[in-house]
Amino acid sequence: MTATLPGYFISFEGIDGAGKSTHIDAFCKLMQERYPNREVVVTREPGGTPLGEQLRALLLDAPMNLETEALLMFAARREHIAQVIEPALQAGKIVISDRFTDASFAYQGGGRGLSIAKLNALEQWVQGRNDGSLLQPNLTILFDLPGEVAEARRSKVRAPDKFEKMDLHFFEKVRQEYLRRAKEAPQRFHLVDATKTPDAIWNGLQSLKINL
Ligand code: TYD
Repeated sequence: MTATLPGYFISFEGIDGAGKSTHIDAFCKLMQERYPNREVVVTREPGGTPLGEQLRALLLDAPMNLETEALLMFAARREHIAQVIEPALQAGKIVISDRFTDASFAYQGGGRGLSIAKLNALEQWVQGRNDGSLLQPNLTILFDLPGEVAEARRSKVRAPDKFEKMDLHFFEKVRQEYLRRAKEAPQRFHLVDATKTPDAIWNGLQSLKINL
């Protein structure tokens, strides 16, 4: 059972180079204008807390055993939920996170091959609440596009981190796992065709229905 809290939780997802970063700031502003009585909290994963940001620096740089990587992602997430996400949702705020658990399924599961059973167990453990419900985003905006389009975009912009150095095959597997998660929870996911122009994507985001 998914937790129902007074706030509203939105996550942004997609493979590296899908263009989510281009839209996330503008989307946060849009939410703040639309819901002036609600505070909008913008955060990210891995990260979002002082400990989480330290873990992020390690996770994006240091090569490590796959299980270790997944456990650290979820450790950072546990802290993020406890310190930031859940208190904000309890207070009725809108939380917008640049990535959440779907990224662990996609990257550690799809990309690197960690078993989905282990990821399910971690999700239950870290997002499980005392009343038996599971903390999940109310809405996940997934920027979807083929791996080679994302790769071409990435190579233009920045120095790659550990994940961004992976090959096309890796990103195709990441993409497929995102799509599997979206199929599993269609009511939570909104798919964005990220091959479209930034203007077309922004128009779509602006007309997205939010049940708040
Ligand atoms: P990203 O969100 O793309 O930030 P930036 O735009 O600054 O590069 O980078 C985070 C990276 O971490 C991305 O490559 C995906 C990866 N990641 C995982 O592998 N597992 C996770 O659970 C999360 C949250 C992120």
